[in-house]
Amino acid sequence: MRVARNLAGGMALAVVMACAQNQPPARPFNSRADAGAQSLTAKGIYEEWGCGTCHGANGAGSPQGPALKNLAAHWQREALPGYLKAPAAARAGDERLKKLSQRYYPITMPAFDSLDRTALETLVDSLLTW
Ligand code: HEC
Repeated sequence: MRVARNLAGGMALAVVMACAQNQPPARPFNSRADAGAQSLTAKGIYEEWGCGTCHGANGAGSPQGPALKNLAAHWQREALPGYLKAPAAARAGDERLKKLSQRYYPITMPAFDSLDRTALETLVDSLLTW
């Protein structure tokens, strides 16, 4: 009888634990749902927009995308936002970008064309110093 009661108690505990583990779903790729607080820093924006999925943590690079280091050697502050919004257009007139793109094919840099201008500038200013 004692065994049966302990068994029932154990099962109740298991149910409670299962409920506690029922966490909210992970944020979808490139979600803007909680834009407010996170958008304040470039690193927050980088994470929120999913750049790290391909470019790695802190722009270290990954098999899905090149490292984002020494970007200032290739990019002016004025041109980089345009690239992030429409990478295909920039690629068309730039041999280095074409080669870079071929290296990661079939993964290509997505167009981030609905980005808020202030956030974009914060990110770009930071990227140029990584
Ligand atoms: C799906 C993977 C993927 C995501 C997500 C992604 N990129 Fe890229 N990115 C690439 C690839 C691949 C390239 C190489 C060039 C190409 O494909 O056009 C690239 C190229 C770049 C370049 C040019 C690098 C150079 O040497 O000139 C920059 C800058 C860049 N990405 C920034 C970003 C930022 C910022 C984000 C987030 C807003 C981002 N990327 C999100 C895959 C990605």
